Amino acid sequence: MDTAKIKDELIEMIETAKDSASLETVRVSALGKKGRITDLMKSLGGMSHEERIAAGQEFNKLKQEIADLIDRQARQLKKQELDERIANETLDITLSPRPRPKGAVHPISQTMEELMVIFASMGFTLTEGPDIEDDWHNFTALNFPPGHPAREMQDTFFLPDDKDAKEGMQKKLLRTHTSSVQIRHMMANKPPHRIICMGRTYRSDYDMTHTPMFHQCEGLVIDKNINMGHLKGCLQDFLKAYFELDDVPMRFRPSFFPFTEPSAEVDIGCTRAQGEFKIGEGDDWMEILGCGMVHPNVLKNCGIDPDEYQGFAFGMGIERLTMLKYGIPDLRTFFESDPRWLAHYGFDPLQRPNAAHK
Ligand code: PHE
Repeated sequence: MDTAKIKDELIEMIETAKDSASLETVRVSALGKKGRITDLMKSLGGMSHEERIAAGQEFNKLKQEIADLIDRQARQLKKQELDERIANETLDITLSPRPRPKGAVHPISQTMEELMVIFASMGFTLTEGPDIEDDWHNFTALNFPPGHPAREMQDTFFLPDDKDAKEGMQKKLLRTHTSSVQIRHMMANKPPHRIICMGRTYRSDYDMTHTPMFHQCEGLVIDKNINMGHLKGCLQDFLKAYFELDDVPMRFRPSFFPFTEPSAEVDIGCTRAQGEFKIGEGDDWMEILGCGMVHPNVLKNCGIDPDEYQGFAFGMGIERLTMLKYGIPDLRTFFESDPRWLAHYGFDPLQRPNAAHK
């Protein structure tokens, strides 16, 4: 038996194996159950003691060499095969162009973000309250006398009473203004306060200028020594920032709200000359918000001593602000969910809300 010849043949077969599968065939033919080296090992049984010692060593050496060689070759082939696969397996990761997304940020959301940015820069924090309110937070705590017309059915959407609620809070309704959030905030936190709140409000009304659901933005500032000058300065700064104008003429008109005393409605200067509406110049006025100094009774209702703390509050319609800034003529279109309207008046979701606060 010529082991050198077997060795040479096997080496040749190993080196010429072109892939893992043919190398495996070579391995079986050498080291498998009926392999050539296995046969050699078996032949040891028929040898004399001396022959077996010499041949055993030789066969074992051969077996080890061939096994090592096959291992090395196997690793090399594997690597080669992987390289080939990587080179040939191309994955198309390009994406065919898709139509531009049809969605847009609703103008109401845009305005709310702008309001948030402006008031945040003025040191206000944002609070929230529930849409479903009770009579106490929406009216009683805000100093509405019993039988006040705003409590009547024609304005307020009442819900079934909640018999399990606390005394005085059983009458449920959809909040008619965000002023209820002032109450919730003052009840839950200690003064001083400097908050805004934004959200949906509801009144049973529907025409060119009223929708049963609309949005308000409410501001509340309570501290020691707050006066109407602060209110005026705050609104002036806000209006300039919001309308992105160096000056917005403003006038306070005496008004009435049960929860503020004195109360005012604020008009801003505008012009309607030649059928064009423009804010900030001309001799016309446009009502924009309601405000006033928080009524002492409201402070008392929230456990605040009105001799120690005072403050102001203001409330404005977000739709109105949006219509004025972006020239949207009809309030009702805000809620018609018409994609053409949104495509025209909506905002790019990737654009940051304007924060031109000077
Ligand atoms: N809540 C009032 C309204 O809905 C607005 C307002 C808020 C007025 C705060 C004064 C102070 O009309």
